[in-house]
Amino acid sequence: MKVFSVKELANNYIAGLKNNGTTIGLIPTMGALHQGHLSLIQQAKEENDLVVVSIFVNPTQFNNSDDLDKYPRTLEEDLAKLESVHCDLVFTPEANDMYSENEKAEIFNFDGLDQVMEGAFRDNHFNGVGTIVKKLFETLLPDNAYFGEKDFQQLQIIRKLTTITKQPVKIIGCPIHRDPDGLAMSSRNMRLTKEHREAAPFIHQTLLAAKEMAKNTTPKQLENWVVDKFNNHPNLVLEYFSIAKEEDLKSISTFNNHSKYRGFIAVFAGDIRLIDNIALY
Ligand code: PAF
Repeated sequence: MKVFSVKELANNYIAGLKNNGTTIGLIPTMGALHQGHLSLIQQAKEENDLVVVSIFVNPTQFNNSDDLDKYPRTLEEDLAKLESVHCDLVFTPEANDMYSENEKAEIFNFDGLDQVMEGAFRDNHFNGVGTIVKKLFETLLPDNAYFGEKDFQQLQIIRKLTTITKQPVKIIGCPIHRDPDGLAMSSRNMRLTKEHREAAPFIHQTLLAAKEMAKNTTPKQLENWVVDKFNNHPNLVLEYFSIAKEEDLKSISTFNNHSKYRGFIAVFAGDIRLIDNIALY
């Protein structure tokens, strides 16, 4: 497994391989790797000649500096995990190689995809994500890039990003990986206290119950029902539950059989913010 921390060296190496027709699959990450990431690597290995993982905790997508400081950084363990699944190349840049001094996130027009849910609660977050993903694509030249559906809004925004930037990358969404008790895998889970970790599966249980109820309710009734469930919970605090169309993430007033809908949720377990979603129709 090759490890590059300098942008130019990684780019030269990959550009050389691409000239010989090698196909590249990229999994962009912020590290603290878990089974969900490793399954993306597995899929990428089946579909590409060379699998590249980037590990970079991207400062421009954090609107809260405390969250940035506390984001888990476990590079040694991450490299060992990547070696064990036969990843071919890891890119671990320093912030000053990806950004010039005082550089801010580029502002994109994501057609409103970034104004709802995560975007409404995390100011400028998706411009930060778009900025770094664009830079990673420029550097690592992937044919295919893999993103988990846990961050479904991010996935749709990255699809939009490639139409804006015209970067020739196929964006592939992969199913959410869950612990046996249903909690969606996330790098943030390792920061949960024992008490909050035990409470957290309630999020997925509520989503499953909401999916069942969606057959017989309106979206508004369902949203109110979820709010009520969390109002009665002793140690999880709901930030939002929204039902939206998969395609444009617009909220809806009725379900119909012609579109696909998801329920999207963000919950605080102590000071750890967890997100999840479920296909409703
Ligand atoms: O999903 C993530 O881990 C990050 O948002 C990403 C896509 C690696 C960009 O920093």
